Amino acid sequence: MVTVDQVLSTLGTVIDPDLKKDIVSMGMIKDVEINGNDLKFTLELTTPACPFNDQIEQDVRAAIAKIKDISKFDLKVTAKVMEGRSLSMDEMLPTVKNIIGVASGKGGVGKTTVSVNLALALAQTGAKVGLLDADIYGPSVPLMLGMGKSAMEVDNNKLQPAESHGLKVVSFGFFADQAHQAAIYRGPIISGILKQFLVDTNWSDLDYLIVDLPPGTGDIPLTLAQTIPITGIVVVTTPQEVASNIAVKAFGMFQKLNIPIMGVIENMSYFVCPNCTSKHYIFGKEGAKKMSETHNLPFLGEIPLNPGIMEGSDSGKPVLVTDPNSVLSQAFMVVAKNVAARCSMLASQLSEEMKAEVATQK
Ligand SMILES: Nc1ncnc2c1ncn2[C@@H]1O[C@H](COP(=O)(O)OP(=O)(O)OP(=O)(O)O)[C@@H](O)[C@H]1O
Ligand SMILES: [Mg+2]
Repeated sequence: MVTVDQVLSTLGTVIDPDLKKDIVSMGMIKDVEINGNDLKFTLELTTPACPFNDQIEQDVRAAIAKIKDISKFDLKVTAKVMEGRSLSMDEMLPTVKNIIGVASGKGGVGKTTVSVNLALALAQTGAKVGLLDADIYGPSVPLMLGMGKSAMEVDNNKLQPAESHGLKVVSFGFFADQAHQAAIYRGPIISGILKQFLVDTNWSDLDYLIVDLPPGTGDIPLTLAQTIPITGIVVVTTPQEVASNIAVKAFGMFQKLNIPIMGVIENMSYFVCPNCTSKHYIFGKEGAKKMSETHNLPFLGEIPLNPGIMEGSDSGKPVLVTDPNSVLSQAFMVVAKNVAARCSMLASQLSEEMKAEVATQK
């Protein structure tokens, strides 16, 4: 006769490779049903985009196979993204589980290209994803998603995001008349617009909200960091930028504000020659990886320099949409999975901290 205890202690040996904790104490095993020697339960993963999901499922099956008496085993695998934001400070955007800012030191390193394709890659894993174009001075998300004719509606005093390829999208670019005048707006007005986009928008339930920031450490990144609790920031850099250390300055500001730096993405890392198909590291190899190691930050992946990525961005047809199985899309998919894994880790740390806080209050 199989017992619940036996099942849970066996499953307690399965460790989530990312979170380094066993899946039972993480609450990933749900709805255990034992009927004679038949076993049924749900494995609830922390995100559909985790790079280790297949491995965890295999480990679960291998662990259960060790229990002799089981005659039938029925496993359901689901995913529920963890809450990666501390909402104790306020209750803003309670339906958005993770907010991820995409920042850089310098302009033109590919933040918007990465934000758009990262959002699409996360959505392809089954997550609910929003994309906020916080570059009020130079909104380019609508162009990159080919959303020329889209608009945002106002309903019940809340902005309704436009939609594209399953993403909820908010951008100052939808206000075509104002967008070209944004350059003359001053800090407080710009901050006000961003605050409205964040909190006066009906984002509904989202697993991830990606916020595409303008370059550097000006008013807009500061407003994002100070308006609402966010999960963290990813920094996009290029091999050339690594050499000049500008990316390091960008994450310095967020660290001072106590915003977690989730990791570094290197864009335009290498060029794949169409004739010889080998990777050419034109500007040096693994610069961003070494930089992240020096600063004790996770490296989230490298994206090649490729005319297809540029054409996709500039024509409003991102590569994740036109060719989701291509090598280029796979590079974005790796980044998306690493970002999702970092969110789960930060969420797990946060829940530990909150538990510890509750314990000290008792
Ligand atoms: N991996 C890549 N391969 C080829 N071209 C790219 C790549 N990434 C971005 N680009 C191109 O580089 C240009 C700048 O990219 P993008 O607008 O995404 O940068 P950004 O950091 O958001 O710029 P800004 O600081 O102005 O907001 C665009 O024309 C884009 O198509
Ligand atoms: Mg941009």
